[in-house]
Amino acid sequence: MRIKKIFNLFGFALSANKVRRSQNEVEKLLAQQALAKILAGIQGISLEKAELFLDIDDSIDPALVEAIEPFPLTQMLPVLEQALGQSAKKVFKRIDEAVAVASLGQVHFAVLKNGQEVAVKIRYPHIADAINTELSLLELSSDIEAVKPWDVEGYKTELKNNMLRELDYLSEADRQQYFAEKVSVEGLSTPFIYKQLCSERVLVQTRAKGVLINQITNWSQQDREAVGCILLSTLLTGLFIAGEVHGDPDADNILFDHDESGMPVVNLLDYGCTIPVSESRRLLLLQLIIASRNQSAINPLDCFVALGFDVDKLAHISGSLPVLCQFLFEPFLVDHSFQIGGWNLETKITELLGDKRCWFLSAIPSDLVLLTRAFRGLIQQLKQLQVNVNCWDILQQSAGDRLMEQAIKITLPDNITQNVTTNISFADQAEKLCVLVSKNGRMTASITMSADAVLDLENIMPESVTELLRKNKAIDLNQIEENLKANGLVPQTIFDFDNGEKNYKVWLE
Ligand SMILES: Nc1ncnc2c1ncn2[C@@H]1O[C@H](COP(=O)(O)OP(=O)(O)O)[C@@H](O)[C@H]1O
Ligand SMILES: [Mg+2]
Repeated sequence: MRIKKIFNLFGFALSANKVRRSQNEVEKLLAQQALAKILAGIQGISLEKAELFLDIDDSIDPALVEAIEPFPLTQMLPVLEQALGQSAKKVFKRIDEAVAVASLGQVHFAVLKNGQEVAVKIRYPHIADAINTELSLLELSSDIEAVKPWDVEGYKTELKNNMLRELDYLSEADRQQYFAEKVSVEGLSTPFIYKQLCSERVLVQTRAKGVLINQITNWSQQDREAVGCILLSTLLTGLFIAGEVHGDPDADNILFDHDESGMPVVNLLDYGCTIPVSESRRLLLLQLIIASRNQSAINPLDCFVALGFDVDKLAHISGSLPVLCQFLFEPFLVDHSFQIGGWNLETKITELLGDKRCWFLSAIPSDLVLLTRAFRGLIQQLKQLQVNVNCWDILQQSAGDRLMEQAIKITLPDNITQNVTTNISFADQAEKLCVLVSKNGRMTASITMSADAVLDLENIMPESVTELLRKNKAIDLNQIEENLKANGLVPQTIFDFDNGEKNYKVWLE
């Protein structure tokens, strides 16, 4: 659905039936699809803004890329042999017809002379040219006003860099090997690369077996939970230990299986799009999560800015940042298994920030947006598996004590945020919201809630009280809420209201 919309934006049409098209035509479509996919990832949560970036042709039919059939082996053999520098017969005992159209080439299963089953990805001969043509045609909207908060140039650069990396199968081979070496997670398997057979256009690796995620929803609860843990560990180990995250959470890229002893195995394929994360960023992100957890004296704004977020954009929502972190990192803030099924982050962000939401989304540095796609992909997978995992436990295991200690100790550069009026730390925030009702000087009710409940005052107060408040012009709940969002949930009196009979005191402490 989402991808379809993006395809529309790129303006190409395909018939719903399987069709065999000319090589040029197919390569053009695939080039467009590949760009669209990364663009969708870059746009990420701000996907609805996609139309702002591109000139749309409304007259174009919805596209169905599945309609493309792979080319026969005879047509791809010359490409393979040229890349190998020798006859395919010398290397392979057998090569099958293609099993899949990959984004920039196609995949054939084969058997090496030594009997090893492999998957051979062969790049289409003219795909690099097609990509370059599409990149140069990628006209961005000239309506500067409309795209104002969005770093269009940054996204475009990111798109280009990713496409160029994805085009080079040798670079993919290297990144796959690096990942296999650094991301050691029990139950995770990365196919072995036959480096001597790889080149810019050909990738040879052991063939993985297994089924797609939609076929394991009937696995036992225990197995699905194990799978959930492997998937989360993989993302966090890639992020914090390897500094290289698998960035393409497509369902087709994971094959699920069991090993000889019956334990679940996750075969992670396709290292065409991996996201490098520098060591300083890893530490900063870890610090931010730990600080949200411990409510420590760290200012999230400083942390975000050090991570590369745009300070001027964040300035619009700086008072809300501690609460926003509470939402963003919620799975890591609880000590038990997190109920992923009931988590609706987007709704929470929208409730908190409203129209100002785009200030946060557009502040994300363009080279980090694909990371948000990786996380969204994982959340989607966990929801599909219907499992809850103990995210904090897994984060601790993945990052390890030493890195966690290191992260806590880093000092943030100061004075980078001197133009921002509200720069509050987690520790500045109130812990709880207190409500005290008394009648004729005697307490009749006393309630305490978590501090962020104050953002939902309208709904937590009894109807009769909100009615009274509405009549009392001096107290405007909406205005109170707006002020809290702007200035943060710091300890303060929210209101103290007396109607002659009853007294209502509401405060943050
Ligand atoms: N090592 C492998 N073992 C089994 N199947 C594979 C392997 N590598 C690729 N495939 C199959 O080929 C498809 C496309 O390969 P992939 O590397 O994901 O290409 P792309 O980067 O173009 O998406 C995969 O979704 C999978 O079905
Ligand atoms: Mg793939």
